[in-house]
Amino acid sequence: MTTFAFGLGIGTQSSTGELLEVYFNQPLLNPSDELIKAVSDKLGYTGGNQAIELNAAQLTDLEGAFLSVDAEDQAEIVEICKGTAQPMILTILETDADPETTAEVYLKLSLLSQRLVQPHGLNLNGMFGKLPNVAWTNEGAISLADLPKRQLAARAQGRIIDVHSVDKFPKMANYVVPAGTRIAATSRVRLGAYVGEGTTVMHEGFINFNAGTMGVSMVEGRISAGVVVGNGSDLGGGCSTMGTLSGGNNVVISVGENCLLGANAGLGLPLGDRCTVEAGLYVTAGSKVSLLDDQNNEVGTVKAADLAGKPDLLFRRNSLNGRIEVKTNKSAIELNQELHAHN
Ligand SMILES: CC(C)(COP(=O)(O)OP(=O)(O)OC[C@H]1O[C@@H](n2cnc3c(N)ncnc32)[C@H](O)[C@@H]1OP(=O)(O)O)[C@@H](O)C(=O)NCCC(=O)NCCS
Repeated sequence: MTTFAFGLGIGTQSSTGELLEVYFNQPLLNPSDELIKAVSDKLGYTGGNQAIELNAAQLTDLEGAFLSVDAEDQAEIVEICKGTAQPMILTILETDADPETTAEVYLKLSLLSQRLVQPHGLNLNGMFGKLPNVAWTNEGAISLADLPKRQLAARAQGRIIDVHSVDKFPKMANYVVPAGTRIAATSRVRLGAYVGEGTTVMHEGFINFNAGTMGVSMVEGRISAGVVVGNGSDLGGGCSTMGTLSGGNNVVISVGENCLLGANAGLGLPLGDRCTVEAGLYVTAGSKVSLLDDQNNEVGTVKAADLAGKPDLLFRRNSLNGRIEVKTNKSAIELNQELHAHN
């Protein structure tokens, strides 16, 4: 049976030994049987999902195992980290079962952000309970229990510990910067985001975990957890894609290819290809929408959710009578080309 995932990570522990986070430099999806066998022989791994904290001798053994199967990239991790005081954690996931440890969650989030797995491509059930809430600082991850003393100790040396955020998720860029991306404000993209090649995330943009862009996109709005944006689609300034983590909405929102969500627009339904939502219009799934023909005559009324996944639609709020209208979208392609010329 193919092993699901593999990663040699270097982590941070609290003063009481709690693992706060793990950085995986070269995580692997479906590592070769050869690699797993070489590692098993050295470490006595006999299967299952495990996060093994390695001592110095085991680390040296592991380097030999990597070199014996020509896994130079993995051996290099050992080479660079040898002698570290930080915990070295080998994480092997035989299956994509619910994550049981902090290291497993970090490996899975890393697989997403390294673009080895697309959003919804792996099992994150119960992950929140395995992620400690951490102070992310200029001195790395610090447990909240340790923080006051660390702050005082730093002050005593005339330094200030800068707390960038207090969160279960760190920012993605401290773990991986995927090729071909531009991220104006790195704190707005969480580890576990999938940022497609050719995506620019501007300051107003945000990408949550298990969500992201498949290719070229200009993101100036919010990509909520679970939301996937197709190649060539743009999210205008301050726009919102509805998430499923709160509020009872359980339909996963997606945006097709070559779409435009206008500035301050909002989306509560999965959008097909080449669709536009007018700036400022929030289309919720339950909204009643007037269908217009080419002459702008109303030919019917539907619930927005019934238009899920349908291509070539333009949603707008009629500025004269306030109703939401949908008509055939003629300008989506030109609008996007114009925007991408400046990516
Ligand atoms: C919805 C949108 C795409 C329409 O743009 P468009 O297809 O170029 O349409 P136009 O503005 O040329 O308007 C075409 C016609 O529809 C009318 N119209 C446009 N929006 C309307 C509205 N909300 N209500 C009533 N009529 C409207 C226009 O008045 C015009 O009428 P006319 O033929 O009598 O002159 C555009 O208004 C929009 O919201 N774009 C989003 C841009 C954006 O936010 N980009 C991201 C920046 S960060």
